[in-house]
Amino acid sequence: VPSIKNYYSLVTTGQLDRELVSVYNITITATDEGSPPLSSSKTVKLSVADINDNPPVFEEQSYNAYINENIKPGSTLCSVSARDPDWRQNGTVIYSLLPAEVNGASVSSYLSVNGDTGVIHAVRSFDYEQFRSFKFQVMARDNGSPPLSSNVTVSVFISDVNDNSPQILYPSLEGNSFMTELVPKAAQGRSLVSKVIAVDADSGQNAWLSYHIVKATDPGLFSIDLHSGEIRTQRDILESDSMKQNLIVAVMDNGQPSLSATCSMYLLISDNLAEVPELKDISYEKNSKLTSYLIIALVSVSTFFLTFIIIILGVRFCRRRKPRLLFDGAVAIPGAYLPPNYADVDGTGTLRSAYNYDTYLTTGSRTSDFKFVSSYNDNTLPADQTLKKTPSDFADMFGICDDSPEVGTFMKKSTPLMLTFE
Ligand SMILES: *[C@@H]1O[C@H](CO)[C@@H](O)[C@H](O)[C@H]1NC(C)=O
Ligand SMILES: *[C@@H]1O[C@H](CO)[C@@H](O)[C@H](O)[C@H]1NC(C)=O
Ligand SMILES: *[C@@H]1O[C@H](CO)[C@@H](O)[C@H](O)[C@H]1NC(C)=O
Repeated sequence: VPSIKNYYSLVTTGQLDRELVSVYNITITATDEGSPPLSSSKTVKLSVADINDNPPVFEEQSYNAYINENIKPGSTLCSVSARDPDWRQNGTVIYSLLPAEVNGASVSSYLSVNGDTGVIHAVRSFDYEQFRSFKFQVMARDNGSPPLSSNVTVSVFISDVNDNSPQILYPSLEGNSFMTELVPKAAQGRSLVSKVIAVDADSGQNAWLSYHIVKATDPGLFSIDLHSGEIRTQRDILESDSMKQNLIVAVMDNGQPSLSATCSMYLLISDNLAEVPELKDISYEKNSKLTSYLIIALVSVSTFFLTFIIIILGVRFCRRRKPRLLFDGAVAIPGAYLPPNYADVDGTGTLRSAYNYDTYLTTGSRTSDFKFVSSYNDNTLPADQTLKKTPSDFADMFGICDDSPEVGTFMKKSTPLMLTFE
């Protein structure tokens, strides 16, 4: 554009976009009007300076991440990436998590994003049983002044891992009581006897449960439905069948690898409780018998000791009157002559342990109940009648706790799940 004489201005005819053309080579030619015309030319290099006019743009509209539960902290979930065509810091992208809540906690307690690379890491592991998916937003911001930003949503889908073993709800071993089912003697083949009920916190295949009898007193007598856990008789019950039947049932899920749980089921073949003498509450009697034995033992020991003292005193008295009758050493009572339990009588020895034993059996054991399947017992027991039984009675019945009540107490209190019944 001519301005003043022989001066020209170079003007733009449109907007310049550095992101499209950043450098122009402009060649200017000056020609005279002579004949022939003569000319000369000059090239002007024009660089377009940057302004921060482009926000970072994510390569995808949204991101999805599929992960397994229980991934290790530090594992990569996914990576996001945004482009900013501006120059230098106007085009430098920094990634960050936008504050949000996941399951009541801040998203940054679950995840972190690498500010330079956009790689998203797990900060802690995820539990599918707590939540199965969540969303959060990542912001990409450039370093210009003022900065421009854009946001993108990332959805995380957690998939289940077989990390929960089946949980058996029935028969429960809570309170150390032995759940016992009564089976009528007249039960025919395919009669429903009981049912093992189990749940699994996982989902899908990982929660498909199957039921198996792993051990049985009489392997041919009962069968369990693979899928429902229903225990049925396989044949009619015979007179020759043992009254006490014990089954060990395993419940397995269908995960890879599969997890399992086992439980014991005690079955009593009987029509009538009166037929089962062992069911009477005999443990208390037995126990008080034991207590009286201990009292008798203590009394005898004390009597023996008193007699001993009296003899010693008598000997002393005699010696005083006839000093040469006995030699001096006889007065000293060697410790070994004391009855071995004497020192424990008023301490924490035999008396105390007998007392403890008594307490165990008379408090905790009274609360264990046994319910009976009402359909089988309508003729013998009211449907809601409950038989109070101590675990030890059943233990006795099943032959764990024989003649050693102390051992029986210990087993019931400390290792009830370890009992096996042959
Ligand atoms: C501009 O000119 C320079 C040298 O004069 C050359 O290297 C460059 O390639 C040219 N650019 C364009 C777009 O023609
Ligand atoms: C970035 O953009 C701003 C204006 O938005 C500008 O002043 C600055 O010079 C630019 N920086 C670079 C390195 O181009
Ligand atoms: C991204 O989210 C932040 C926080 O909600 C907001 O300040 C910002 O304006 C958002 N940016 C865009 C481009 O929507």
